[in-house]
Amino acid sequence: MFVLVSLVSLEGEKMIFLILLLLFLTPCVSGTFVVNVTQTSYQAEENQNITLEWTFSTRRETSLRSISTICQLLTETRTYFMFHLHQGVESPESQDPEFAGRVQWDKDVLTEGRLTLHVSRLRTNDSGFYVCDILVTPDGSNSRRCWLNVTAATHWNKPETPNTGRRGRIGLYSAFALVSVLLALCVCVLLNFRRQAASEQGSDSASGPTEAL
Ligand SMILES: *[C@@H]1O[C@H](CO)[C@@H](O)[C@H](O)[C@H]1NC(C)=O
Ligand SMILES: *[C@@H]1O[C@H](CO)[C@@H](O)[C@H](O)[C@H]1NC(C)=O
Repeated sequence: MFVLVSLVSLEGEKMIFLILLLLFLTPCVSGTFVVNVTQTSYQAEENQNITLEWTFSTRRETSLRSISTICQLLTETRTYFMFHLHQGVESPESQDPEFAGRVQWDKDVLTEGRLTLHVSRLRTNDSGFYVCDILVTPDGSNSRRCWLNVTAATHWNKPETPNTGRRGRIGLYSAFALVSVLLALCVCVLLNFRRQAASEQGSDSASGPTEAL
C-alpha cells in the first residue's frame, strides 16, 4: 500500500517536472528553428538499404561544429541509439551495437540543412519510429520523427500469389459454413425452446401449441 502511494506520488512529481520542463523549453524551441522530415513513413525489405532524411533551418554561415544531433529508434519494447553527432563529430561509442557499422551520414549536405542517414542491410527489427533531435547553436533545437517498416524478404513471390488467393477463398467458405452451422444451431435452440414453452402452455390450455408456432 505504501509502495503504491509513493509510486503514485513519484509519478506525479515526474509529471510535474516534465510539464515544467516543457513549459520552459517551448518558448526557446518554437517558432525559429524548424526540423522537418522529407517523408513521414518509409517501407523497405530486409537486407535492402534506405536513406532517412531530415531537413532543418540553416543560415548561410552554419558550420559543421555548430550542429549536434541524436537519433533514436523507438520500438514497442525499447529505445536504440542509432546515430550521435556531437558538434559535427560522430560519436560511435554512444551508438547501440545493433546499428554499428550500418549508418552513414553526409557531411556536405548537413551544413545545408539536410541530415541524411543511410542505413544498410536492413533487418525487420529496424522497424519503428526514428526520432532525430537536431541542435544548432545558437539557433535552437527541435525534433521530428518518421516511421520505417521493414518487412521480411519474400523469396517465393510468384507462386505465393495464387496460393494466398485460394487460401482466402477457402477461408471465406469456412466462414460461410461456420455462420450457417451457427444459424442452424440458433434456429434449433429457438424451435426447441418454443416447443418446450408450447408443451408447457399446452398442459394449461388446448390452443397453446398452435399459438406458439
Ligand atoms: C518545413 O516544412 C514547412 C512546411 O512544409 C516549410 O514551409 C519549411 O520551409 C520547411 N523547413 C525546412 C527547414 O525544411
Ligand atoms: C547497401 O549499402 C552497402 C554499404 O553502404 C553497400 O555496400 C551496398 O552496395 C548497398 N546495396 C545496395 C543494393 O545499394
